[in-house]
Order: sequence, then C-alpha cells, then structure tokens
Amino acid sequence: MKIPQTKIDEIASSIDIVDVISAYTPLRKAGRSFMGRCPFHEEKTPSFSVSQEKGVYHCFGCGKSGNMFTFVMDTENVNFFEAVKMLAEKAGIPIEFENEPYDPDRNKIELYYEVNAKAGRYYHDNLLSRDGAYAKEYLANRGLKDETLTKFGIGYSLRDKDALYRTFGGDYSLEDLTEAGLVLNIGANEVRDRFRGRLMFPIFNESGKVVGFGGRRMYDESTEEAKYINSPETKIYNKSKTLYGLNFAKGAIKQQGFVILVEGYMDLISLYQNGIENVVASSGTSLTQLHAKIISRYTKEVVVVFDSDLAGQNASRRAIELLIENDISVSVLALPPGDDPDTFIKKNGLDGFNRFLNRRLKIIDYIAESYEVRGGLNSPEGKTEFVREIIGLITKMRDPIKRDFYIKDVAERFGIYESIIRKELESFKGLKSRGLTREISPEKSERKSSEKAAKISTVELVLIRLLIDADIRAKELLMNGLEMDLIPNENVRKIVNYIMMNLDSPEKITHIVLFNEFQDEESKDIIGKALLDENFVMQGSKNKNYVTEAQAILSQLRLQSVRQRIKEIEAKIKSSNSYSPEILELLTAQQSLKNEQLELERSLKTL
Ligand code: UTP
Ligand code: MN
Repeated sequence: MKIPQTKIDEIASSIDIVDVISAYTPLRKAGRSFMGRCPFHEEKTPSFSVSQEKGVYHCFGCGKSGNMFTFVMDTENVNFFEAVKMLAEKAGIPIEFENEPYDPDRNKIELYYEVNAKAGRYYHDNLLSRDGAYAKEYLANRGLKDETLTKFGIGYSLRDKDALYRTFGGDYSLEDLTEAGLVLNIGANEVRDRFRGRLMFPIFNESGKVVGFGGRRMYDESTEEAKYINSPETKIYNKSKTLYGLNFAKGAIKQQGFVILVEGYMDLISLYQNGIENVVASSGTSLTQLHAKIISRYTKEVVVVFDSDLAGQNASRRAIELLIENDISVSVLALPPGDDPDTFIKKNGLDGFNRFLNRRLKIIDYIAESYEVRGGLNSPEGKTEFVREIIGLITKMRDPIKRDFYIKDVAERFGIYESIIRKELESFKGLKSRGLTREISPEKSERKSSEKAAKISTVELVLIRLLIDADIRAKELLMNGLEMDLIPNENVRKIVNYIMMNLDSPEKITHIVLFNEFQDEESKDIIGKALLDENFVMQGSKNKNYVTEAQAILSQLRLQSVRQRIKEIEAKIKSSNSYSPEILELLTAQQSLKNEQLELERSLKTL
C-alpha cells in the first residue's frame, strides 16, 4: 500500500498550506510569509512562520518545521500514510495504492508502545512486591484504594540504579530503551534507569496506551531532586498534546458537558476516586495551543482549578487565555489557601466538592469579584484597571459575535460606556501587536514593572549556559526539574525552550545558530552573556561539578519565585483592611512561603 510520489505531489500542489494550518492557529500575512502563534508550544507572541509559496512552516520559537503532511501527522497524531489520506480527502483527490506498505518509523513506534506498556506492568508489579511495600503504604496513607492503583496502573520504580535495564536489557536494545525514555545512557558504559525509587504514574494517550511516565519522589523530601520527573518527549509521547487522564475522562466530559482542569497527577486521581471523573491534568508542562484544541473537541466549557498561590494564578492565566482563544468558555474555582484538589476533596467529600463546584465563577465574574474584594471597583483607577484586564481577555476571543456580546455585557453590568470599552479594545490590540501583553499581578507598581521585560538574573544566564555546556547528567536533571514558569524573563524562557527542544542536536545550539534564531536585542544580549561573559561562566567555586551546579540553579530559580511571591503577598497585606478575613489567609500563605524560603536557603548552603 504505497502511495505514488506523483499523487503526493498532486495533493501538495492542490492544497494551500495556509488553509491547512489556519484551522489550528490563526495566521496573518507578514511580508512574504504568514505569521501566527505556534501550535506546538505555548507562546504569547507569534514566532511561527508559514511560507505559502514553498509550502513549509518553521517556528522560530521551538524550531519545529515541516510541510503540510508533517503538520497533519503532528497535530492529528497520525502516520504519514494517514496524513496523506486526510489531505487527499480535503483536496478531493482519490488515491490509489501500490502494494508494499513501508513506513520506517512505524515499527519503532509499535516497539515503543510495547516497551512502555511492559514497563508500566513492571512498575506496577514492583509496587505489589515486597520491595514496593513502603510505597504501597505511602499510597494507602494518602487514601488511594487498591482498585484505584489498578485503574491508573500506579507503580513503583526500584531504587537500584539499573533495575529496569537489567530486566529489559535482554529483550530490547539499549538504544530502543533510551529512545523510549526509560533509561539514560550516560556514557562510559554506564546505563541508568531514568526513574529510581519513585512512585510511577503511567501517562496514557487519548486511546489509553502508555506513552510515558511521571515519577514522584518518595524518599527524603528535602533532597534537591525534583519532586516529579517525567518521561522525555519521544516518538510516542508528545507533551504538548497529551492530557493526563483524558482517556479515562472522555465519557464523563461528554456526559457532564464540561471538564475540570487540574495540575497534578495526584489531584486527578484523587478526584476520580471520589467520583469526579470529568477531569484532566496538564501535568508536566503548561497548557499549550494543542491541548486547548484537543479539549475543544470534547467540550466548550473548562473549569480551571486555581491553586490559591499567586504564581499558580499567573500560570493559570496563560492557560485561560489559550482556552478562550479556542472559543472555550472558562470558569474558575479558587481553592482555599493551602488546599489542592486532592486535599480539598479528601476534607470535604464529593458533596462538599460539588457544592463548591456549583459556585464556580465565569472568568469575568471571577476577575470582577477579585477586584471588588479589594475595593478596586470603587475608584476610577481601579475600574480602569479592571476594564483593561477584562478587555485583555475579550481580545483573545476569536468569534466576533461573542466578543460583541461580552462587550455589551461588561458595559451594562459594570456601568461603563461601550464606546470606552471599544476604544480600549483597539488600543489593546495595538499593544499586543507590539508584543506588550501583560500578566495579572496584584500590585500596580509591579504591574508596571511586569509590563517592561523582567530584568535578567544571573541565575537565568547560568541556566542557559548549563543547558549548552554541562554534561548529560546535569542536563537531564535540568530537563526534568525545570519549571518554565519559574523563569521570569520571557526571552530567556524562549531561548531555554528552544535549547531544550534541540538538546539532542548540538549543531542547533551553537552560538551561530542561536544568534540567528533570536535576533531581537535583548535575546542577543542574553545569549552573548550566557555564552561569553566570564562572570557567568565561572559562577561559584571551581570544584563544583555540573550536577551540583544544576541542582543549585533549580533551587535558586525556585527561591527567586518564592521571594517574589512573598513580596507580592506583603503588598497585598498592606493594602488590605486589617479586619478582613482575607488577612488571615494571606498571613498563612506568607508563612508557608517563608518556610519554603528557609528550606531552600538551607539546602543551597549544603550544596
Ligand atoms: P504539585 O507539586 O502540586 O504536586 O505539582 P501534586 O500533584 O499535588 O503531588 P503531591 O500531592 O505532592 O503528591 C503539580 C504537578 O506539577 C508537575 C507534576 O505533574 C505534578 O503532578 N510537577 C511538579 C513536575 O512536573 N515537576 C515537579 O518537580 C513538580
Ligand atoms: Mn498535592
């Protein structure tokens, strides 16, 4: 069943690549090409370029490029053959086949599915064995029932350095096990299991096949090791389009008409066990355009569960924008401080959770309420801020009728002239095209500074250098432990993202290519400093090795963000009425952040 090349050419020439891609991300003409936001990674400013004449696309942010066939393969999760069939259909071109199917990737893909499924069973068996007793007890203490462990295939990876490799090495080649994401080939004949001494959560794709794992640290809560590490992207695991739990949630989403979006594996599993089944998690990465697309295939309403902390809110903010852009209506459920969905439903039960769920607020009402609580709607300035905030969201809506509806609604409900809103909307669009969108931050002063680019810290520069220079172990550590949201500067985030995507191709992360990929002044400055500035090249004492340095960087990033959050809360406390019930919550949140700060500072000293 081979499709003749002439057919493929015929299809390619009768379909416009811009048409194909526009169905996934809006494109705008920019000079000779079209630009839009990359559907393969999360970004605010468009860096995805499509050439209509050449029939190819390239993302300057994440480096993805290809033609209409690869695009369909990647977005629809199909192989080349199926992609050609789909596009042929679109073009109305009947295809006939030559015999002999041949897809060199296909066998590998089947192999990776097989080995991941086997690994899942292997980890699960470990959990039930004597070696897994401690892990099993841990799970029981967290309230997970045996049937839940079975349903989600939860397992345990032994603490030995290569227990899995020893078990699987006879049947599979080292290369295949590495490519499937299960072992790390760290050179000098040393092979290690990627996951050691961790609780294992198999990650399933939409149709329920195991494509990778998330592993939760079990021992020694104070270590520098990341709490969770996740499988890398592989031929079968594409993080930007895998939603944890979707395979289980499908039916319930359709039935309930909405989906609840949470952050963590444990959150999802705990909700599910307690009877909330229409839930998915964006675990391991922040939500992407493709995630939003996939969700919108199932439902047009998403309930985003906010962690009470502010950083959580900013991360969710980006997710919310992406959802809105995909014409999904977003509601918000803000948990009490200190709770995540898991602890909340454990404390309050299914009924408690459902009562809480029924009080969810549409995003605009949620924002209005958070302004009202702070008395922000009483002053003209506060009202202006509020309107700007709302308009920021309305501009994201693609459907002009919906946009119009919201403008009218906001005008009426908050007593603001429609014309003012429309004017704001125009100027907002202007800002956006100059790349000046903003995030929510609680304080006006901070709001100003976040409108400018965040100042670049040494930590960020060292991070970049390590990603380029360090040894494989340190790089793996960074890959697994890094939370992109902790990187304050957007350009640094883009550069880091690019480097991580190309970690396996050193030729793509030379300074020549980097300077070529990132041509704006700030990025060039960042790259130059990270690669060349002696101050950053020799950070810390010389006898520190890369792994320690990487650990330190991860802690420092976390520390930076914790400090920032403490400042934000302080400001909030100052501006709140000291008798308001909110104060107590803020103080509690602040205290736990301060504890975290101390802990981080302490662990940094011991490195
Ligand atoms: P949380 O730290 O909230 O963990 O991270 P959790 O899911 O509530 O787990 P428990 O209750 O402490 O056991 C939320 C999610 O963020 C990702 C994981 O997907 C996690 O489930 N994460 C977190 C990472 O990928 N790496 C990390 O180091 C931490
Ligand atoms: Mn939790």
